[in-house]
Amino acid sequence: MHLPPSKRLRRSELAVPGSSEKMMAKGAASAADFVFLDLEDAVAPSAKAEARGKVVTALNTLDWGKKTRCVRINDVETEYCYNDIIEVVEGARENLDVIMIPKVRHPRDLHFVETLLNQLELKLKLKKRIGLEVLIEEVEGLINVEQIARCSPRLEALILGMGDYSASQGMDQKEIWGSKDYPGDLWHYPRYKVVIAARAAGIDAIDGPFADFRNAAGYEIEARRGAIMGFVGKWAIHPSQIEPANKAHTPLQADVDKARAMAAAYAKALEQGLGSIALDGSLVDVATVRAQSGILHRADLIGM
Ligand code: COA
Ligand code: MG
Repeated sequence: MHLPPSKRLRRSELAVPGSSEKMMAKGAASAADFVFLDLEDAVAPSAKAEARGKVVTALNTLDWGKKTRCVRINDVETEYCYNDIIEVVEGARENLDVIMIPKVRHPRDLHFVETLLNQLELKLKLKKRIGLEVLIEEVEGLINVEQIARCSPRLEALILGMGDYSASQGMDQKEIWGSKDYPGDLWHYPRYKVVIAARAAGIDAIDGPFADFRNAAGYEIEARRGAIMGFVGKWAIHPSQIEPANKAHTPLQADVDKARAMAAAYAKALEQGLGSIALDGSLVDVATVRAQSGILHRADLIGM
């Protein structure tokens, strides 16, 4: 499937509890590309109803700059989900860009949210379409990830949620961030599966949280692993993780310059009827130029 590449930057997706006015103000003023105001796990059941109102006020009154404004709702199996969607969309209207759905297991979970959004957008006469992101964090979600990735035109990104996923698979919690007894990286398979499904559907793959927020070196290693594999961003659960996430998912200026030089040399070669040329001792052809297209797209989005 050849869909246009994403138009949103998602190098860092900051999680902010929707119950905290103070943290939402900090999130709005932060350097994150994308902020999601959480109504799910960061909010206690007793505070969920009130948090919806706080989230709407934050969306309507804070200056979010160029950030993508997202709300994470509760999953479709809960009693909170439909009220989350209705109250937040009716309250924030065009001040909301994306809804994040946690614990997605089947395409029908998205279809429920999509149908509700279709109705709300008609009723409210919204001028823009609200996008979706989904969390792959249940074993059923990982099994069905290829169908999920292609099941809705609103879907913009898949996120691998390691915390819930590790519980769903029954992983040993003491070993999930590096085990001396497990030969390899426990996250290799789920990460690969999510990024392949996302790329095949023409949407973004986002790497989930790293809970040990005082461990800056550990975060850097995990963010880099994801970036090498094709993830275009990573969650930040604390402001200190925003800058490392942005850095891990920003191409080096030298690599951008090189990619642009290759693209220009290749365009010139084509004018001369040549399909492959040498540039600085390396081959440049349609395949090598294609391999640089991700860097160029990202650089254009960032404005490098
Ligand atoms: N978004 C915005 N601001 C945040 C923040 C976040 N995710 N996490 C911390 N801050 C703020 C704090 O309020 C504090 O502000 P201050 O300096 O004005 O007092 C500052 O950043 C430093 O925070 P710190 O004291 O180091 O951490 P903390 O003990 O206040 O908070 C957590 C630690 C883990 C409770 C907090 O980071 C958090 O709630 N993270 C998000 C959790 C979440 O959303 N989970 C669901 C998705 S996994
Ligand atoms: Mg979760």
